[in-house]
Amino acid sequence: MKPNLGFFVFLALIASTVSAIAQTDLGGSVVMGFDDPSIQYASNVLRDPISELQRKLDRGEAKLRFDKERGYLPSVLELLNVPVSSQALVFSKTSFQLQRITPQTPRAIYFNDQVYVGYVVDGDVVEASAVDPEKGAIFYTLDQTRRTTPRFVRRDECLQCHASPKTLGVPGHMVRSVYTATDGYPIFQAGGFVTDHRSPMKERWGGWYVTGTHGADLHMGNVFLRGDNPDNLDLKAGANVTDLASRFDTDRFLSPHSDIVALMTLEHQTRMHNLITRVSYEARTAMEQQVSMNRALKRPDSEWSDSTRRRVYGPSEVLLQYMLFRDEAPLTAPVKGTSAFTGEFSKHGPRDRKGRSLRDLDLTRRLLRYPCSYLIYSEAYDALPKELSEYLNRRLWEVLSGADTGKVYGTLTTAERRDIAEILRDTKPAFAAYWDSRTPPRAR
Ligand code: HEC
Repeated sequence: MKPNLGFFVFLALIASTVSAIAQTDLGGSVVMGFDDPSIQYASNVLRDPISELQRKLDRGEAKLRFDKERGYLPSVLELLNVPVSSQALVFSKTSFQLQRITPQTPRAIYFNDQVYVGYVVDGDVVEASAVDPEKGAIFYTLDQTRRTTPRFVRRDECLQCHASPKTLGVPGHMVRSVYTATDGYPIFQAGGFVTDHRSPMKERWGGWYVTGTHGADLHMGNVFLRGDNPDNLDLKAGANVTDLASRFDTDRFLSPHSDIVALMTLEHQTRMHNLITRVSYEARTAMEQQVSMNRALKRPDSEWSDSTRRRVYGPSEVLLQYMLFRDEAPLTAPVKGTSAFTGEFSKHGPRDRKGRSLRDLDLTRRLLRYPCSYLIYSEAYDALPKELSEYLNRRLWEVLSGADTGKVYGTLTTAERRDIAEILRDTKPAFAAYWDSRTPPRAR
């Protein structure tokens, strides 16, 4: 078939519209196409930790144990290295298996840097999602009936909610905060939020239990709304709760906590994961379309239109800003969790020669001591297309070395830039190599 130039012009037009939206905040209404040859979301060639575990189960190298009370949950967490201390409890009926989610039987969520697990008391399945470095979140269920060969089954219908504007239009994750009635139903007329580290405390955790102290900075957790006027939510009644035993039977869960620090971390990383996926999808589809257009017009592959450039690099700036915690909502009082999460989270490192880690928590003014996301170490970040990782290294160098004097990163102090640069130079070889190539030996 002879390529039709009109078609390519049409593609370029779509591309520039997507990029105009992309540059604002990557929210909006775009849901990306996942069948693009550069994405192939549906393909079974997977590298996420759950597909890897399933291969081990198939080969008999791992075994899931069935627990009488909680089915496969404890064993799933153990085999996937997901800490029980990350438990967060949500009582709003906002997800799958919603008929079983109530304020007396909330849904438990557990997570680490690559895997999220959802558990509902007496539920039919364990729900899970895991990050594939190229495809983003892959969704699974595991039947909660005892079998000789239990299997994780891939479930793309989860994408109804998990690939929507709430997840930046890509297969991903979210934390929602909704006004919730005493029976667990969300009261959407009252409004609601998708929250992350930029959200003010007063918008966070509606429909969730929250254990931990946070001074006079109030959140929406632990309380119900009567009627549909959001102003009637009594935030004070839900504040600084450290024990949930009087509210429901906490013995039905692996832990009695719904730790505030775990929740803050979950919020940070859900959007960070979505951003990595979105930026990667956007760049790969744009580059692929550019190559097809170049071939049709017999131009070299390396020739990029302005719109391709915008689509590849524009979203990366959004990623970079989020990764460096620009616009993080400041804490006005120290935050302290109730579970072992805070200690366990920081233990994983990696640490620089001075013993510092991007996983060190601050919790007096903000989430992290050094405001740069630990997901910079994730496989998904490393799997970004070469053009993007080069761009991100260059931009990180500009910001952290102080060469970028623009307003956007103006809130990062010289000390913060230096600390993050030093930690990354000791712990992230690709960044260290770039840094050394740009910095004269005497200044290193
Ligand atoms: C009706 C919309 C909806 C559907 C369908 C849905 N989810 Fe979710 N899911 C949510 C929402 C909303 C959250 C955020 C927590 C909450 O409010 O319960 C969530 C959270 C999760 C989490 C925790 C990580 C995160 O994103 O916060 C996992 C794991 C998960 N869902 C798995 C699944 C799986 C597996 C399926 C399909 C079998 C599925 N979900 C289907 C709405 C949905």
